[in-house]
Amino acid sequence: MLTLFAFAYISSVWLIGGSNVCGAAMGGREDPKSDCVLTNCEKLSNDIGKAECCGNQVCTGAELCCGGQAFNPEEGTCCEVDNGHNKTAVTKGLSQKVSSCCGLKAYNKLNDICCESNIAAKPGPNAKCCGKVAFDKHTHLCCGPHNNKTFLQKDSSGHVCCGHKQYNPKTECCHEMNGSLEPMQINSSSCVQNQKPSSLLICKETTFCICGSKRSSSCDKNQPKSQCCCTPERYEGVLTVYDPSAHICCDGCVTGRKPWKDQCFGQTSYCLAQSGVLCRKGTLYKYRDDGEVCSAGGTHPSPEQHYCGRELYLPEEDICCHGQRHANNGNSHCCGGEAYNISDPKKKCCAARLYNLTGQSGEKYYNCCGSLLQNIESVCCSSEFNEVLYSKKSGFGCCGHQYFNASLWSCCAGRLSPAKNQNKSINESKLLSINNLNESDLCNKMQIGTVDSVSLNSIVFRDVLEIHGRNATMTHLALPHILKTPDCCSFPKLTPGKIYFFDGKNVFADFIHDSVLQSLYFIFSKCYGP
Ligand SMILES: *[C@@H]1O[C@H](CO)[C@@H](O)[C@H](O)[C@H]1NC(C)=O
Ligand SMILES: *[C@@H]1O[C@H](CO)[C@@H](O)[C@H](O)[C@H]1NC(C)=O
Ligand SMILES: *[C@@H]1O[C@H](CO)[C@@H](O)[C@H](O)[C@H]1NC(C)=O
Ligand SMILES: *[C@@H]1O[C@H](CO)[C@@H](O)[C@H](O)[C@H]1NC(C)=O
Ligand SMILES: *[C@@H]1O[C@H](CO)[C@@H](O)[C@H](O)[C@H]1NC(C)=O
Ligand SMILES: *[C@@H]1O[C@H](CO)[C@@H](O)[C@H](O)[C@H]1NC(C)=O
Ligand SMILES: *[C@@H]1O[C@H](CO)[C@@H](O)[C@H](O)[C@H]1NC(C)=O
Ligand SMILES: *[C@@H]1O[C@H](CO)[C@@H](O)[C@H](O)[C@H]1NC(C)=O
Ligand SMILES: *[C@@H]1O[C@H](CO)[C@@H](O)[C@H](O)[C@H]1NC(C)=O
Ligand SMILES: *[C@@H]1O[C@H](CO)[C@@H](O)[C@H](O)[C@H]1NC(C)=O
Ligand SMILES: *[C@@H]1O[C@H](CO)[C@@H](O)[C@H](O)[C@H]1NC(C)=O
Repeated sequence: MLTLFAFAYISSVWLIGGSNVCGAAMGGREDPKSDCVLTNCEKLSNDIGKAECCGNQVCTGAELCCGGQAFNPEEGTCCEVDNGHNKTAVTKGLSQKVSSCCGLKAYNKLNDICCESNIAAKPGPNAKCCGKVAFDKHTHLCCGPHNNKTFLQKDSSGHVCCGHKQYNPKTECCHEMNGSLEPMQINSSSCVQNQKPSSLLICKETTFCICGSKRSSSCDKNQPKSQCCCTPERYEGVLTVYDPSAHICCDGCVTGRKPWKDQCFGQTSYCLAQSGVLCRKGTLYKYRDDGEVCSAGGTHPSPEQHYCGRELYLPEEDICCHGQRHANNGNSHCCGGEAYNISDPKKKCCAARLYNLTGQSGEKYYNCCGSLLQNIESVCCSSEFNEVLYSKKSGFGCCGHQYFNASLWSCCAGRLSPAKNQNKSINESKLLSINNLNESDLCNKMQIGTVDSVSLNSIVFRDVLEIHGRNATMTHLALPHILKTPDCCSFPKLTPGKIYFFDGKNVFADFIHDSVLQSLYFIFSKCYGP
């Protein structure tokens, strides 16, 4: 029983690894049993952090392979076209987390549309393709059979297609006559038996869905992964754009398919991102449930020995960072496989990637966005599930981790809905990271608590502790603790029952640590010093 369980557990780890380590193809679509996991792991155990995973190229950190080209999926997208001879291309500047492929080019489905291999800006939130042309289905129609479409301006909002023409279903019917379709007066004899079923469920394979309230509640419910099923009715109320392979839409609400954090968060290579993973004889192991100590070479260590990866190490003199041993000469914190001095203002650790801030421009502006460093030309949009770096565009704003064109969408509390008034200022909503707070904000007074409930203009927290980072103390606050949110739209979407940091104005999450204990350790290490 135990063995069986352990085996199942290892297999599932292996599967997750397969989708993250050195994927031969792209996120979620590749063969999970890629041999790459094993060979990569063997190499990692020799030289952790670097592995030959892409032809002859050496991949570092979280890089993946695209054809023969190594790339970082946070900075680019790999597109593949199977047209007899395999072709691949990397589109730079668009994270694979929010992109889709249009032929060999990647694009963001939220703001752009792919029409027969052409990428066009969406003319409206519900844009569709008419051949190579993108159109707004509220103002235009694309009528006719598959290969011979006619592009029409709608005579009224109620008009729909009838063959190459349009008709108003309230006053006309669409009548088939001698193999072609013609609009006819509704009181004409031809129209009498013309009735069609109204609420069909349309299912299609997609990487992008819209979750709305009530009327579209059947959207995606109980559907297999990557299927978006909707009634062909118009959406109403507040809409959320989501990725059906990661989330599920139930009664108008989007929730994670797998609520645990690492599923949504860890985008980096499995071997590097997870502590406690050992590579032995080409197999991935996590800390095992059966109590066996998994160590290098298959030999059991003696009672006082500790291993760091394959090497012995002395915990009093060394520090072990994800299988790499370093001398602990003041660099007592790990960032991925490297050790660093957390008080050194010239070092920044972004999701297991260590940056040297010396010699770079824009000195004062060093925010992390996932494992990337944000600069003046980029924007970081973040939600509880993801942090995504985008190239800055005017007229765009963040809504959770999505970067939206404000002519198309408006954002309230992390939810997108079709834009109503295109003239107002752009409202953004994103979840900030405590890792990007400067010392004066992080170290003075910070609260942490569990969200109990959220209303339009306040958030109720429980289990609230006030953290004084500077003197490394905490006090508990009396309940109820209420945070006023006069502009609720600009607040991120918060999940009741989850723990957040907050000050008088903003709510923060910790994207880089796995537990509250680690977060507190980070704050005290950073703030409390002799
Ligand atoms: C294209 O790649 C697939 C696997 O990714 C392979 O099975 C197929 O043989 C390749 N086709 C050509 C023409 O190389
Ligand atoms: C934003 O959307 C509007 C409306 O469709 C479009 O005209 C504009 O080109 C888009 N902006 C960008 C930068 O794509
Ligand atoms: C396309 O439709 C038009 C009518 O709008 C027709 O005259 C033409 O023959 C059609 N072409 C093809 C290739 O079917
Ligand atoms: C349809 O075809 C029938 C016989 O083939 C013919 O009598 C009738 O006139 C045709 N109607 C139209 C509108 O062309
Ligand atoms: C159909 O109704 C319209 C007005 O709704 C009327 O003008 C027309 O004469 C009617 N035609 C027939 C065949 O009844
Ligand atoms: C860590 O960095 C801080 C700031 O640069 C420095 O004052 C401190 O001496 C360093 N600690 C060690 C042990 O090197
Ligand atoms: C970072 O800077 C230190 C000196 O401050 C240097 O020794 C080290 O090699 C640099 N690391 C990288 C990756 O540039
Ligand atoms: C919208 O903004 C434009 C300029 O950005 C201005 O000319 C126009 O009057 C505004 N319309 C409304 C209704 O405020
Ligand atoms: C922005 O938010 C304010 C208040 O939260 C709201 O009144 C305004 O309509 C919003 N603007 C847009 C474009 O959504
Ligand atoms: C810290 O950041 C806040 C804004 O988040 C800014 O107002 C403040 O001046 C910064 N303090 C320092 C010391 O950089
Ligand atoms: C810790 O610092 C806060 C202000 O940051 C102060 O109010 C509090 O009294 C200090 N506590 C101790 C024990 O020094």
